Amino acid sequence: MTRVLTFGTFDLFHIGHVNVLMRAASLGDHLTVGVSSDALNYSKKGRNPVYREEHRMAIVKSLACVDEVFVEESLELKGEYIKEHQADVLVMGDDWAGKFDHYKELCEVVYLPRTAEVSTTDIIQSIREDLD
Ligand code: CTP
Repeated sequence: MTRVLTFGTFDLFHIGHVNVLMRAASLGDHLTVGVSSDALNYSKKGRNPVYREEHRMAIVKSLACVDEVFVEESLELKGEYIKEHQADVLVMGDDWAGKFDHYKELCEVVYLPRTAEVSTTDIIQSIREDLD
């Protein structure tokens, strides 16, 4: 059985999220998703996600292509998560291309192309503009 692991915030769940999760799932038999905690997001982006972590996790877990979810507490723990979840493949978006190659000693590392012209940041921005 091939176990696949990927990470993300998955706030304001959108088509880019569906695409990356379905492609990740197609690379193996079991997909685990690390959903970034609210605190991790705040430290990375200086703002809280719109949907809190329990809700983001429940949305991701509800997808037919996702088998397991857990909270990603720290960006530094990816190696530990790979071991803990016995991942054979780590999937990241190609905005991270090359940045996770050091994990190749633990598992295969695959970078998937991002879906064009959609992101949570852009959705928030366009809602803000519409309200102005
Ligand atoms: N993703 C993607 N295509 C997009 C947006 C996201 O493939 N258009 C992928 C990312 O590469 C990552 C996962 O979806 O593997 C979760 O990304 P996330 O950071 O939660 O989504 P973004 O929309 O990029 O969020 P933000 O704008 O806040 O950075």
